[in-house]
Amino acid sequence: MAYSRNLFFLAVASMAIVQMTMAGDPDILTDFVLPANLTTVDGNFFTFTGMRVLVGAPPPPAFKVLKASMAEFPALNGQSVSYAVLLYPAGTVNPVHTHPRSAELLFLAEGNLEVGFVDTTNKLFTQTLQPGDLFVFPKGLVHFQYNADAKVPALAISAFGSSNAGTVSLPNTLFNTSIDDNVLALSFKTDVVTIQKLKAGLAPKN
Ligand SMILES: *[C@@H]1O[C@H](CO)[C@@H](O)[C@H](O)[C@H]1NC(C)=O
Ligand SMILES: *[C@@H]1O[C@H](CO)[C@@H](O)[C@H](O)[C@H]1NC(C)=O
Repeated sequence: MAYSRNLFFLAVASMAIVQMTMAGDPDILTDFVLPANLTTVDGNFFTFTGMRVLVGAPPPPAFKVLKASMAEFPALNGQSVSYAVLLYPAGTVNPVHTHPRSAELLFLAEGNLEVGFVDTTNKLFTQTLQPGDLFVFPKGLVHFQYNADAKVPALAISAFGSSNAGTVSLPNTLFNTSIDDNVLALSFKTDVVTIQKLKAGLAPKN
């Protein structure tokens, strides 16, 4: 009895280790994964043209992200990679957020960018990036990017080690869901009125 219980424990423990050593998306046993409604594909399936709109386009009025993840580009399913192109008009921020399933490797192509992340000991790491610089945001940590320049827009390209890195936007997650005002007021050591103000700022405008 004790013996089989030990075996069971061993099996569970080794499964946990296997899980821990799988740093990327789960491996696939085929070269690529076709959507259920397709049986044959050609080069078009492996081509994403959704970024063409950027070529020669004027800067957007607000911060904007164009994603090429599994949702937009189904050929990425099982390949453990994805991209995002980030456009920051002067003075705009990519609000504090995390990617639960991947690190982010950002390449600054144009403009200057203030970036930062906070590790699990609550230490803040910041940097001012110049065009040509790369910065890595470790997996799962809270981070942001800010174009502090009053005139010049910035453009960055981010690579992810997951086809579906996921984004948890802190403002949205905390103050644009139905978490009880009292829970938030107690969590942030403030009053309900302050919480309601924060919520009002993020609520959809009519
Ligand atoms: C297959 O399904 C996806 C959505 O699941 C759709 O976008 C696509 O157009 C479909 N393709 C064909 C050939 O029906
Ligand atoms: C808040 O949530 C609503 C509903 O999901 C969404 O339409 C709106 O864009 C969100 N606000 C922000 C600032 O993201």
